[in-house]
Amino acid sequence: MSAFESSIKGKAGILTGGSSGFGFEMAKAVVARGGRLAVFSADEISDAGRREVEAAGDGEAVFLHQDITAPGAADAMVDETVRRYGRLDFLLANAGFAIRFEEPLLEMPAEKIAAAMRTQFEIFPIAFATLALRAARVMAPRYRNLPTNETGHRVDSGAIVATLSVASVIPLRDDLLAYAAAKRAALSVTESLAATLGPDNIRVNAIAPGFANTAGPRKFYDRFPNIRADIESHTHLKPSFLHPGAVVPTVMHLLTDNYATGQCVVLDGGYTNNTRLYFQEK
Ligand SMILES: NC(=O)c1ccc[n+]([C@@H]2O[C@H](COP(=O)([O-])OP(=O)(O)OC[C@H]3O[C@@H](n4cnc5c(N)ncnc54)[C@H](OP(=O)(O)O)[C@@H]3O)[C@@H](O)[C@H]2O)c1
Repeated sequence: MSAFESSIKGKAGILTGGSSGFGFEMAKAVVARGGRLAVFSADEISDAGRREVEAAGDGEAVFLHQDITAPGAADAMVDETVRRYGRLDFLLANAGFAIRFEEPLLEMPAEKIAAAMRTQFEIFPIAFATLALRAARVMAPRYRNLPTNETGHRVDSGAIVATLSVASVIPLRDDLLAYAAAKRAALSVTESLAATLGPDNIRVNAIAPGFANTAGPRKFYDRFPNIRADIESHTHLKPSFLHPGAVVPTVMHLLTDNYATGQCVVLDGGYTNNTRLYFQEK
């Protein structure tokens, strides 16, 4: 480990949405590196899933029920984590789901669009901003006064990492209108909080995964094979639909780096780069 990296061994963090997909892979990775996690999800994790996380390494993870959009959720998650582990060092704000419109937007009642927008904004920018700020209140006293070493750098920092989406950085199709608006707002939250929390030596970054090969989205693409084919034709790397574990190296880097903040790392096999190409010969 270089003098500029930190470790999550022995540290305590919050992970939202750890029962499946990206969050499940993050939970295993944190436990494998000796970190301690309070994992908050809407439903039960399976016994097999719980055992797989526990077996990943010498860290620990406790799985708890919490709707992250419920009133008081941010306080409840932070208080419970501190009660269990006596400290809080990092936050992985990952929970969420995509509302997809499958009928033409021009034929949709205004109230249906408004309800979807409210739901997506509750789960992404609102839940993220409130939880991150509440967590930072606990993290700041530990991290703001860390001494610098002979290079002038501090060798540890608080870390907040949000799971965004390619929808945060490029326009997506009309089926993801509400989702894309909320994910883009969450990028704005990431950038603002990086500025707000920098003086407290807390870094705020995000990942923007492309399209995952998980069960939920797979059902959607089975109904819309033309959209699947379009995505497949627009990534530089294969597979075009990523395994959720593919985000782990970047997430672990963002937890243990001590200088990156306000950044969003796009993990999409080149999908967004492709949208900027001048000439695309197929
Ligand atoms: N799948 C993709 O293609 C894709 C691409 C880019 C970004 N993302 C983002 O990645 C993140 C994780 O999604 P995923 O693909 O890994 O999906 P997933 O497998 O369905 O996992 C979503 C997780 O979020 C939890 N969750 C959902 N609503 C919640 C709520 N109100 N309160 C607490 N927990 C809640 C779920 O808990 P329960 O299972 O217990 O309900 C589950 O643990 C999301 O933010 C999503 O927008 C997904």
